[in-house]
Amino acid sequence: MEVVIVPDAKAGGELIAEAIAALLSRKPDALLGVATGSTPLPIYQALAAKVRSGAVDASRARICQLDEYVGLPAGHPESYRSVVLREVVEPLGLSEASFMGPDGSAEDVLAACQAYDKALAEAGGVDLQLLGIGTDGHIGFNEPCSSLASRTRIKTLTEQTRVDNARFFDNDITQVPHHVITQGIGTILESRHPILLATGEGKADAVAQTVEGPVASIVPASALQLHPHATVVVDEAAASKLKLADYFRATYAAKPLWQGL
Ligand code: GLP
Repeated sequence: MEVVIVPDAKAGGELIAEAIAALLSRKPDALLGVATGSTPLPIYQALAAKVRSGAVDASRARICQLDEYVGLPAGHPESYRSVVLREVVEPLGLSEASFMGPDGSAEDVLAACQAYDKALAEAGGVDLQLLGIGTDGHIGFNEPCSSLASRTRIKTLTEQTRVDNARFFDNDITQVPHHVITQGIGTILESRHPILLATGEGKADAVAQTVEGPVASIVPASALQLHPHATVVVDEAAASKLKLADYFRATYAAKPLWQGL
């Protein structure tokens, strides 16, 4: 996988927004998979600024969700559907019609998972999948020991993830759902270009294991090593435990600009 070390989160956001802009100019109706959490926000801000300035036409872009909580009432401000509409769809000037996600309040959750997995394939597959990473190495909500071949399904969150995400629920862990729907690792690996952004020292261990450790379900993000075109963008703090950091820096510095990410 390609590892790009950037000075800070803002630079990571800019770089990835550029890659999305390049994709949209090649394929205006690209299906863009988006992640939630704090990390990708600089990407969405940079992309929305490009749209506002007229540098990017995102009017035909399609947006799809990576994961969702199960059981939050429809319209809950912290459902990932609400977050994606608020942070991505609206700032890009898109309508809800351009957006797809799993139904976290479905009565038949299993059917909702299978329907979403199928809908992604029927939409032509995800062209570019943005990912964050959990402190435990999860991508989407694929917690440690998720099958590397998994499809979209229901998962139970670890205590650590519920603690990490309590900040979005008034710091009250009792409000954080136990169950989620997530694209599986196999589903994510079908995207044409997964791009993982990780920032801050708290992600340094997970990043080192993802990039330099063995492919192992205990670190779900390490499955990205199996993808022929996966990109990991990290700031200096998140890169601080990479043994090959200097090599990654030199490689990127020597990369021809036309190649993009
Ligand atoms: C949640 C999401 C992940 C995200 C992770 C990290 O668990 N399901 O997709 O990568 O949070 O969030 P943050 O970027 O806020 O650290």
